Amino acid sequence: MNDLIPVVNKLQDVFNSIGSDTIDLPQIIVVGSQSSGKSSVLENIVQRDFLPRGNGIVTRRPLVLQLVNIHDSDDENNEEYGEFLHSPNKKFTDFSEIRKEIETETARVAGQNKGISRSPIHLKIRSPKVLNLTLVDLPGLTKIPVGDQPTDIEKQTRNLILDYITKPNSLILAVSPANVDLVNSESLKLAKQVDPEGKRTIGVLTKLDLMDAGTNALEVLTGRVLPLKLGFIGVVNRSQQDITSSKPMNEALKSELDFFKNHPAYKNIASRCGTPFLARTLNNILMNHIRERLPEMKARINSLITQTHQELLSYGDPTLEEKADRGVVILKILTKFSTDYVSSIDGTIIDVST
Ligand code: GDP
Ligand code: NA
Ligand code: MG
Repeated sequence: MNDLIPVVNKLQDVFNSIGSDTIDLPQIIVVGSQSSGKSSVLENIVQRDFLPRGNGIVTRRPLVLQLVNIHDSDDENNEEYGEFLHSPNKKFTDFSEIRKEIETETARVAGQNKGISRSPIHLKIRSPKVLNLTLVDLPGLTKIPVGDQPTDIEKQTRNLILDYITKPNSLILAVSPANVDLVNSESLKLAKQVDPEGKRTIGVLTKLDLMDAGTNALEVLTGRVLPLKLGFIGVVNRSQQDITSSKPMNEALKSELDFFKNHPAYKNIASRCGTPFLARTLNNILMNHIRERLPEMKARINSLITQTHQELLSYGDPTLEEKADRGVVILKILTKFSTDYVSSIDGTIIDVST
């Protein structure tokens, strides 16, 4: 069943490289206000520093992040690297180069100022430390334009986020900082608009270490404040101080674990808190979500196969050869997808345990 995520990733690559938006593929969309900790959560899941940082709006294009577990792929060696769809033959083994490339690509398309662009950057990371997951990092919600940002920046960002989370195949990772009252959480407000029953929203509470002394988020984490079917997971990311002093990822994860294990309010639920639990849960939720959505996706893909086939037959003109080639590629992948779908349903037991 875990094989389905790479198959969906492959479909995503194909549709993206031909600039097609014909199919709504399952993916996890990270939503939150600026500085809520979205990038930190993603870096913790990958266990690498690779995202641009800084004040103000840093994420200015959607980043589609495909995580591929190397043990599940056909790679011979266990080399950890990143690869961008816009430069397919270049392996990035130095993760600070990945950060630079994201910055360069952001500036190239979204400009040097603080504007945003809807055009996504696609990054694939192969690593033995990750579980198969597809996550989309989006610009954070901002209330007030800064510098030469367009005056409607909030509206632009909101609409961009809504476009992604409205799709029924999207899972919403709604990030909220624990040191701000949950009723003011912009991410949960947005999620509620498109998922009123809380069926495909996962709550993430960051900055639990920054809550006022004597307060805690136990009620939220145990679902007694806001019921989300997929629940709330608490995390502790690196603080600004940790980042400035280059605190290594493995130490950060250890501190996070210690925080939950030793905290009087959280020690009883420690096994259901923290980044590793979040990553495992997301992997399971995504797999089950894909499985649920398969019949519908398969029907959609089958009609695309028929359509593409018809189109190919209609190419009498040799100048259309290039287009026909592309059609053949799509056809092959769609057909493979259908085959994989059938075998996975027939032969594999779905793992829902965490
Ligand atoms: P984003 O704008 O949502 O991507 O937020 P970032 O991940 O860039 O985080 C914004 C700031 O909050 C950074 O200085 C982080 O170090 C800090 N931060 C994020 N999560 C936590 C957390 O759980 N605890 C603490 N102490 N700081 C955090
Ligand atoms: Na938020
Ligand atoms: Mg960010």
